[in-house]
Amino acid sequence: MVPFYRIAALLAEKPTGMEIAVNGWVRTRRDAKGGFSFLEINDGSGLANLQVIADEALPNYHDEVLRITTGCAVRITGVAVPSPAKGQEIELKASRIAVEGWADPLVYPLQKKRHSYEFLRTIAHLRPRTNSLGAVTRIRGSLSFAVHQFFHQRGFIQVHTPIITTSDCEGAGEMFTATSLDLDRLPTTGGKTDFGQDFFGRRAGLTVSGQLEAEAYALAMGNVYTFGPTFRAENSNTSRHLAEFWMIEPEMAFCDLAGDIDLAEAFIKHLVRHVVENCAEDFALFGRFVDTTLPDRLHRILAGPFPRISYTVAVAELHKSGRDFAFPVQWGADLQSEHERYLCEEVFDGPLVVTDYPKTIKPFYMRANDDGKTVAAMDILLPGIGEIVGGSQREERLDLLGERMTAQGLDLDEYGWYLDLRRYGSAQHSGFGLGFERIIQFVTGMGNIRDVIPFPRTPGSASG
Ligand code: 4AD
Ligand code: MG
Repeated sequence: MVPFYRIAALLAEKPTGMEIAVNGWVRTRRDAKGGFSFLEINDGSGLANLQVIADEALPNYHDEVLRITTGCAVRITGVAVPSPAKGQEIELKASRIAVEGWADPLVYPLQKKRHSYEFLRTIAHLRPRTNSLGAVTRIRGSLSFAVHQFFHQRGFIQVHTPIITTSDCEGAGEMFTATSLDLDRLPTTGGKTDFGQDFFGRRAGLTVSGQLEAEAYALAMGNVYTFGPTFRAENSNTSRHLAEFWMIEPEMAFCDLAGDIDLAEAFIKHLVRHVVENCAEDFALFGRFVDTTLPDRLHRILAGPFPRISYTVAVAELHKSGRDFAFPVQWGADLQSEHERYLCEEVFDGPLVVTDYPKTIKPFYMRANDDGKTVAAMDILLPGIGEIVGGSQREERLDLLGERMTAQGLDLDEYGWYLDLRRYGSAQHSGFGLGFERIIQFVTGMGNIRDVIPFPRTPGSASG
């Protein structure tokens, strides 16, 4: 049996002088004068292509090899030899080339030229075959491993929280409904849809966050985390929002807000360091072609502690700026992305932690501070991205939590299980959520969040 190689391993190992096999997709074919052709093959294992020399002595050279075009799937056997060409150490001298799948060049949408990201979004099923989307995909996969590595190194237990749920964690009413009712013949009661007849006997939806369930497990297991898809039916057509995105949510018992921020900071640094150290080839592509300031920006994340300021101080900084923001700055109003970007890009020129937001703009579960006006919340902002992390210390006091929920119009009976966590063995606890796509944007410099997830779901778009 001829040993089979993935191209990345082949280029790293360079097993010259012996016969080996590779599979992949043709990026280009170039015919030389002396009766042979060059094929550039990529198999997704890395950025670099393998150059294959196809000589006219191959039995199918005239019938098939000369008809090979960009996108064809091939299986190749050959001997790796040192390459005389610049920029590659080895090439493969083919002894056999089998075309497994043709790609009609008259209709195959991916040609050799550079395509815009907008165009590539219209062919989301083919775009992983491009250099940039291939590199994003490898970095995304590697970062996912780094997420689990970080928490396992620290003894956190992964819990799988439900995707279908009846609780709207963020209280923003942005849940998609999950129903099996016949939408053309909805049962009604009192003029409203009767969800009592629905699959779950009540209205259910897709989760906006695994936090509430993670809290239940933190108050039994100590330190837990979730990493899963979350869904938001918010009509935000921006380069930072998806209707379906992946979130990592750790939750820690016996931990206060400062400890929560410490963990989030260490986590962000771990992910950034992972990409710099383990995804060097793909990372270099982004530093060269997408954003030349990227390497410097990432190294500055690792350089020192993240500054921490309160929301009140942040508002004072914004007032001091004398800027004419589109959204007026006012204590009590949420920070808009223009405010966040000004603070972290112009005032602090790096990552920034903002804490202790007004309670009126934050969800019910955040712990009330003694001032009566603010809650123990924290957001972490990154240059070019804005909010990467949102978290808080949770309200562990039953009476205060009940008051807060009632004030926000929540039905206490529906959240009976969540209140039980405060009735029995309640403890100080804290957690946060980090948006997986946003950190991928940050480490790649990709401008649009739709280009860092395989099949983006956004308002008006869910195909492929
Ligand atoms: O600030 P958020 O809404 O916080 C929560 O959901 C909490 N339950 C987390 C927790 O404390 N366990 O979302 C957390 C992060 C944001 O900081 C952002 O990075 C990301 O999730 N995020 C989105 N990413 C992409 N598209 C969207 N529509 C996002 N909404 C939030
Ligand atoms: Mg938030």
